[in-house]
Amino acid sequence: MSLPQLSSVCFSSFALVSYPDNPEIPAIAKYFSTKGRYEEVNPYLIEDILAVNRSILQPPSAQCRQIHLTAIIRHGTRYPTVKNVKKMQKLYGLVKSSASGQESWLREIQTQWTMWYTEDMDGRLVQKGVNDHRHLAVRLSKLFPSLISEEKLRGGLFKFITSSKHRCVNSTLSFKAGLTELWAIKVGLGILNDALMRFFEKCTRFVQEVDNNPSATTEVDLFKEGPEMRRVQEKIADRLRVPYNNVTDDMAEAAFYMCAYEFAIKTVNSPWCRLFDEVDAQVMEYANDLKQYWKRGYGHDINSKSSCILFHDVFSRLDKAASENKSGQQVTEAVTVQVGHAETLLPLLTLLGFFNDSQALTSTNYATQSQRSFRTSHMLPYAANLLMVLYDCGGDELRLQPLLNEKPVTFPGLTDQQVSMPLYDDVKEHYRELLQGCDFENECQLFKHPIEV
Ligand SMILES: *[C@@H]1O[C@H](CO)[C@@H](O)[C@H](O)[C@H]1NC(C)=O
Ligand SMILES: *[C@@H]1O[C@H](CO)[C@@H](O)[C@H](O)[C@H]1NC(C)=O
Ligand SMILES: *[C@@H]1O[C@H](CO)[C@@H](O)[C@H](O)[C@H]1NC(C)=O
Ligand SMILES: *[C@@H]1O[C@H](CO)[C@@H](O)[C@H](O)[C@H]1NC(C)=O
Ligand SMILES: *[C@@H]1O[C@H](CO)[C@@H](O)[C@H](O)[C@H]1NC(C)=O
Repeated sequence: MSLPQLSSVCFSSFALVSYPDNPEIPAIAKYFSTKGRYEEVNPYLIEDILAVNRSILQPPSAQCRQIHLTAIIRHGTRYPTVKNVKKMQKLYGLVKSSASGQESWLREIQTQWTMWYTEDMDGRLVQKGVNDHRHLAVRLSKLFPSLISEEKLRGGLFKFITSSKHRCVNSTLSFKAGLTELWAIKVGLGILNDALMRFFEKCTRFVQEVDNNPSATTEVDLFKEGPEMRRVQEKIADRLRVPYNNVTDDMAEAAFYMCAYEFAIKTVNSPWCRLFDEVDAQVMEYANDLKQYWKRGYGHDINSKSSCILFHDVFSRLDKAASENKSGQQVTEAVTVQVGHAETLLPLLTLLGFFNDSQALTSTNYATQSQRSFRTSHMLPYAANLLMVLYDCGGDELRLQPLLNEKPVTFPGLTDQQVSMPLYDDVKEHYRELLQGCDFENECQLFKHPIEV
């Protein structure tokens, strides 16, 4: 059975999409950071969720053949966690009891909208999240038809590895369902592996020095108390007509989540979104970026080093495929699908040097960081994915193409940038120090390193 020909026509009506003035889409939807919809980073998907454009791959020669693909994918859209549900309930209570404006959107929240988020939802995957992964699987099968193929899946040349969290297990099943529905095959779940996909909770030094250490995120706290954030809170209070002291930074955050979740989960532009204008949303986005920066990104060296185990795992799969191909054997693991969290992807992207601004993100440089590359809204929406595709281009020439969220990216600092598909040897040379070091056990043990201040 061959793949359905859902080809490049998909892009033709892109210009007709009224995005970003579509009234169904909140004007602030592109600032939702890790609560953002995948479609916001690839707006052509709004029109056709299965659209792909194979010409973005552009191998340097017609001889190049894909021999291996590793996909590291964040789980799909999910419900809020208990902590956020509690904050949202508190905000809802305030709006119900104290807000006194007469605007129709406010009346709508007070009289029609009901607080349907409950604590037992606890971060579970929602139906939209199931679809995120099902559709991603179909698109990847169209983008890489010689690898993500019925023949290779039937031949047992796929490996699935997932974090044990229900939202990841469910995402993995949904990704597979996307393929098995296409080809009418059955496959098992794959392997649960938290050492690999939730390395961040196994890395003692990270847990102690960053995750459980409030002083690691001082900049985030300072920003939340700072003038930009205070202004956002005051504007929310003005819109609700409640005293300024009623709207805390947690409430502002909860209001932002309300708008983001209603959109991500139900695809509605809810009245909660009216509590923010674009300037406010940019401040909220920065607060979220700051948190990710200090907890998972460049803020502390151990953040990225905690992903050493995944880094080596990726390169050892690539090496194995390369050497099998070179020695005339069939590549035994053509496709590896690894499902984890934003907290899995961000440290790895950081280790690889992506989105590294010359200035650190701090509580005081919001204005000068307006052009920063470190934007979690672009990097880490639901179902965010890093793909590493290995090509054999004949005559022992192997090339590696990285794609983030289905768009080719270039390895930062790799000098030969004419092609988005550098020689695999050059990539390995570029990351030589990490390949020779970056030992998880060493990096993650306590007291071996001077404490960062
Ligand atoms: C597909 O991608 C190529 C290369 O980026 C671009 O030139 C072309 O316009 C795209 N095609 C469509 C239909 O969008
Ligand atoms: C996955 O999530 C969907 C939506 O919440 C749910 O209907 C389904 O039962 C879940 N599947 C599994 C296997 O957990
Ligand atoms: C809101 O502020 C008023 C005046 O400071 C205070 O009396 C009231 O308790 C506050 N309400 C909430 C829900 O914080
Ligand atoms: C190595 O990969 C190339 C490209 O797919 C293929 O032509 C060649 O047959 C492969 N070698 C082996 C031994 O599989
Ligand atoms: C990030 O950028 C800083 C400053 O430009 C540089 O010192 C550092 O080595 C970079 N980190 C990575 C992982 O590329």
